[in-house]
Amino acid sequence: MESKLSVFFLLLGFAACSCSASHHDPSVVGYSQEDIAVPNRIHDLFGSWSVKHSKIYASPKEKVKRYEVFRQNLKHIVETNRRNGSYWLGLNQFSDVPHEEFKASYLGLSIGLAGTNGTRAATTFRYESAVDLPWEVDWRKKGAVTPVKNQGDCGSCWAFTTVAAVEGINQIVTGKLESLSEQELMDCDSTFDHGCGGGLMDFAFAYIMGNQGIHTDEDYPYLMEEGYCKGKQPGSKVVTISGFEDVPENSEVSLLKALAHQPVSVGIAAGSRDFQFYKGGVFEGTCGTELDHALTAVGYGSSDGHDYIIMKNSWGTSWGEHGYLRIKRGTGKPEGVCDIYKIASYPTKSNSTGWGG
Ligand SMILES: *[C@@H]1O[C@H](CO)[C@@H](O)[C@H](O)[C@H]1NC(C)=O
Ligand SMILES: *[C@@H]1O[C@H](CO)[C@@H](O)[C@H](O)[C@H]1NC(C)=O
Ligand SMILES: *[C@@H]1O[C@H](CO)[C@@H](O)[C@H](O)[C@H]1NC(C)=O
Repeated sequence: MESKLSVFFLLLGFAACSCSASHHDPSVVGYSQEDIAVPNRIHDLFGSWSVKHSKIYASPKEKVKRYEVFRQNLKHIVETNRRNGSYWLGLNQFSDVPHEEFKASYLGLSIGLAGTNGTRAATTFRYESAVDLPWEVDWRKKGAVTPVKNQGDCGSCWAFTTVAAVEGINQIVTGKLESLSEQELMDCDSTFDHGCGGGLMDFAFAYIMGNQGIHTDEDYPYLMEEGYCKGKQPGSKVVTISGFEDVPENSEVSLLKALAHQPVSVGIAAGSRDFQFYKGGVFEGTCGTELDHALTAVGYGSSDGHDYIIMKNSWGTSWGEHGYLRIKRGTGKPEGVCDIYKIASYPTKSNSTGWGG
């Protein structure tokens, strides 16, 4: 008993140590204390960072401008990490991007599309009576999550999370994980959604239903810009869904109930510098002021006394924890950290519909 306890405390001590070290570990945050000690070293750091992220600037003037932005962003990262909070920030591909430009270029949830009354059409919620939820859930471990993708300089987050949620339910029902086409939604789902200009997941689920399915990524690859709609490719595979439902808003327990059964698309107020440079840990804000981005909730769990939800993002693997975000839950705020409980929804699929039908 005693030895078990001491092992427990040993582990606890180790966890606390490694947590605080992550805020200052150069291999995590992308800079060392020496790098930020003198301006010359910061300039060298900018040089090695630009090589790492293949940055090419149009002119020396542009380079000077971007260096200044880099310095400002680095300052924010260093100051935030010095506080040793529950999460840490790091240099990433967005480090030379001013925050306003970042918000305009890399997000893409258009909540305004939902109509003027601001509410969502009420749908049924099939998981309302779910009980005995598991202590933790991770759909990645169950093979229902494809590798992290990258939307690039295009406001297409809505298409990425729509697809991730469909990939999830399709694997759960059919046992097959298929990477599906964001580009098809960008090109063809244009009645209410706007490609790189933003969109909403429920419209995209409705499109997939109306279109009798969505192509695979392989058959309809991502271009990072809007193209013309190719329509049905004869003989190609499509994945169907049977419907979609909204998770009751401002209800953490409802999101967990849904998430215990499948990955869920989630809107988030992501327009903050902390979000732009999130590198790891359990995020608790700062947040943006409005829902402007979308992610896919793929699990939940707890560590070091923090309860969190695991979110898949679409900014490649160098952002966050290999492309993922852990965001705090259980804070008592009905709308959740960064409003994540406001517009969550998921596709449904009955087991008789497989390929095509
Ligand atoms: C944060 O952690 C570092 C390294 O463990 C330590 O040197 C520093 O004093 C801590 N800062 C605060 C504000 O606790
Ligand atoms: C307004 O909200 C109701 C549900 O409360 C919904 O049925 C209706 O479609 C919404 N109108 C618009 C324009 O979004
Ligand atoms: C759906 O059907 C397949 C094949 O019959 C089966 O392997 C799978 O377990 C079923 N999935 C669910 C969620 O019922």
